[in-house]
Amino acid sequence: MSAVIDPRQFREVLGAFCSGITVVTALGPDGVPLGLTCRSFSSLSLDPSLVLLAPARSSSTWPRIRAAGGFGVAVLAAGQEQVALAMSRSGTDKFAGLDWTPSSHGRPRPAGVAAWLDCDLHDEPDGGDHTIVVGAVRDLDVTDHPPLLYHRGAFATLHRSEGRGDTP
Ligand SMILES: Cc1cc2nc3c(=O)[nH]c(=O)nc-3n(C[C@H](O)[C@H](O)[C@H](O)COP(=O)(O)O)c2cc1C
Repeated sequence: MSAVIDPRQFREVLGAFCSGITVVTALGPDGVPLGLTCRSFSSLSLDPSLVLLAPARSSSTWPRIRAAGGFGVAVLAAGQEQVALAMSRSGTDKFAGLDWTPSSHGRPRPAGVAAWLDCDLHDEPDGGDHTIVVGAVRDLDVTDHPPLLYHRGAFATLHRSEGRGDTP
């Protein structure tokens, strides 16, 4: 029998893992821009080029993005806290007042992001009360903007230290 993990402790412990913040976007069939804030994002495979993200099953936007067959991932830049917050508010006009342009694949790309990826939906295995979304990367680019970070339930900014680690 597996140990029962206290959800509060689970959140607290996992909150110690610092991440960037992404906004996952697509265009709905009616041309309406869709988006949701997601810190559960990671590179997965180099060959083929795959990324993964984990939207909650309670998300009302993810099923609409899934239906589009693909999505864009905006890696938010330092100073884009309000974009992250706006894209997390269910049932609101998340793109109101947001400056964005269509990506090469026609997906809403917020202005001023740190990096951008256009992905096809490749696979979606089960992830408990979340779903694991595997995206096949079709286009991508990076800017010079430093990233927005997230740690222990709060936004943070990057201070570089000595040394570097290369991802495999
Ligand atoms: C900083 C931050 C990080 C978030 N990360 C995730 C995440 O990794 N997965 C997720 O399902 N929701 C995450 N959320 C919450 C979703 O953005 C939010 O529940 C969702 O957008 C609700 O809107 P929807 O019903 O339109 O999908 C995060 C919210 C914030 C503010």
